[in-house]
Amino acid sequence: MSRKTGDAKVAGVQASTLEQDIVDARRVLGQRNLVFVGLMGAGKSAIGRLVSQMLEIPFVDSDHEIERVSRMTIAELFEAYGEPEFRALETRVITRLMKTGPRVLSTGGGAFMNEATRSRVLKSGLSVWLKADLDILWARVSKRDTRPLLKTANPKQTLSDLLDQRYPVYALSDITVQSRDDVKETIAAEAIAAIARLAGDQDEMQKP
Ligand code: S3P
Repeated sequence: MSRKTGDAKVAGVQASTLEQDIVDARRVLGQRNLVFVGLMGAGKSAIGRLVSQMLEIPFVDSDHEIERVSRMTIAELFEAYGEPEFRALETRVITRLMKTGPRVLSTGGGAFMNEATRSRVLKSGLSVWLKADLDILWARVSKRDTRPLLKTANPKQTLSDLLDQRYPVYALSDITVQSRDDVKETIAAEAIAAIARLAGDQDEMQKP
C-alpha cells in the first residue's frame, strides 16, 4: 500500500490522516517496541507485520524467533520438553527482544500471561491487544492443527476457556483494537490511529 496517495482513501481512512497518524505513532513509540498481544487467531502476526511496514520499523514474531533459536517448531518444543520449558524459552526470547527497539513484536498468545513478561512489556514497551470474538478466532484456528494447546477433545471449548482466563489480563494492555473479519489494512490503520492519539496525551503531559 502506498502512503503517497494524495487524498485517496486507503482502507476507508483518508490517506493524509493516515500519514499524520504514522508520523505521530512513530513519535509516540520513540525507541520502544510495539507489542501485539491476544489469543491465537487474533491476527497478531498478520496485523503486526503490516503495522511494521506502515511505520517502517522492523518486525519480529516471538514464536518464529523461538523456532529459529531452538531449530524446532513450537509443536515439537511442546512435544519434546513440555509447556513449562517452552514458556521459559519464550520468556528469555522476549526479554532479549525487549532490550532494544523500536520494532513491532508479535507475541504468542500465552506470553503476556507471564507476569515478568507482562510487566516488562508494560514498563518498556507499548502494548496493543487485538481483541476478537470466539467465533472469529475459532474460524481461523480450526483451519490448522499446529497449536499444541488446542489438541484436546473439545478444542473450541478449550479456546473459550482460554478466552475467559486471559481476556481480563490482556485488558491491561495500553491499547485495545477490535480484530474482526475486515481487511487487515483497516485494522492496522486503526491500531496506528490509536497509538497516534496517545501523542495528544503525551503533549498534554509535557505542558508546563
Ligand atoms: C500459545 C499461542 C501460540 C504459541 C503456542 C502457545 C498460547 O502462538 O505461542 O502454541 O499459549 O496461546 P499464537 O498466539 O501466535 O498462535
